[in-house]
Amino acid sequence: MADMPSDFWSGWIIGLTVVSLLGLTWLVFSIYFSKNGSEEFESPVWDETLKEGNHPAPMWWFWMILATLVISVVYLMLFPGLGSYAGMLKWSQNERLDVSLTRYAIAHAEVRQKIAESPILELQQDAQLMTSAERLFQHHCAACHGVDGAGQANRFPNLLDNDWQWGGSEQDIEQTLRQGRKAIMVGWQNALGDDGVSQVIDYVRSLSLGNSNQFNEGKQLFDQFCATCHAADGGGNPLLGAPNLTDEIWLYGNSDEQLRHTIAIGRNGIMPAFDDRLGDAQIRLLVAWLLHNTE
Ligand code: HEC
Ligand code: HEC
Repeated sequence: MADMPSDFWSGWIIGLTVVSLLGLTWLVFSIYFSKNGSEEFESPVWDETLKEGNHPAPMWWFWMILATLVISVVYLMLFPGLGSYAGMLKWSQNERLDVSLTRYAIAHAEVRQKIAESPILELQQDAQLMTSAERLFQHHCAACHGVDGAGQANRFPNLLDNDWQWGGSEQDIEQTLRQGRKAIMVGWQNALGDDGVSQVIDYVRSLSLGNSNQFNEGKQLFDQFCATCHAADGGGNPLLGAPNLTDEIWLYGNSDEQLRHTIAIGRNGIMPAFDDRLGDAQIRLLVAWLLHNTE
């Protein structure tokens, strides 16, 4: 009732409730105690002795109705029920929820604190905690990274391999989860032109195949435009989220078409931040679980 749009409606509801209660009281009293109540009406006599009569309702009905009326009034005084009036006890569902949430937080705070401060190795050895971590992953991460964490759709990276675009240390992964990551790989179509893009594609693909010395034009363009982020040898830079291009692992794929899209148009992968969605203990558990899977 607290979210009533205006006092006007609240006033209406109070008025209607009070009037109905008064009306009901009047009705009950008038039925039982009106002076005319016992007035005999003239009934024809049937079968010599049989007369129609009017037997009053039993008295216990009266007491019962009176008791329910009294209970209603007391209830409406104590609890919220009359328009926006909060009741003398100031009882509210929200407050009860707050109380139980606080109780829950106090009861579990210590366990959470302990998890948040435990060494990763210790958490990984606790099978039960790892199961909880997996459940967290299913709930918050699987929609993008796949149920098993193996990535999907050439968009969401595989988290089971030991290849970390943004760094694979405990701290790096924690930062990825807390703050999220925004990858910026701009498109190079204008700078390179169609031929340049093709040459770079050949060179980039050759980096993981080990025959890169065959693609000199591509290498020159790479050194000029790409090496600042991906490093001269193509090994990548976790600080920028620039992936290692010398391994067999491709987030966006290494077909001609996929590489052309990546290099000519660009890619902007976004990993959302979970700092305000997950607690310290939950983040710690997820870090432990992710590192556990790649060992
Ligand atoms: C400003 C830094 C920067 C520069 C310069 C840059 N890249 Fe990137 N590159 C990135 C980042 C960051 C990503 C990751 C994009 C993502 O995850 O969405 C990326 C991704 C890629 C990928 C995708 C790898 C995969 O696993 O799918 C390829 C291929 C690539 N870059 C090639 C190049 C080439 C070729 C050039 C030069 C023409 C270049 N990049 C220049 C930062 C850069
Ligand atoms: C809305 C989709 C989405 C959700 C939900 C999501 N992620 Fe991601 N995540 C991504 C994308 C996209 C990237 C790649 C960003 C890039 O291109 O650099 C990523 C990157 C990552 C990375 C970095 C991988 C690397 O190689 O460095 C980690 C670790 C990660 N996510 C873990 C998680 C965890 C744990 C959760 C759940 C708490 C989660 N993600 C939820 C989309 C998502």
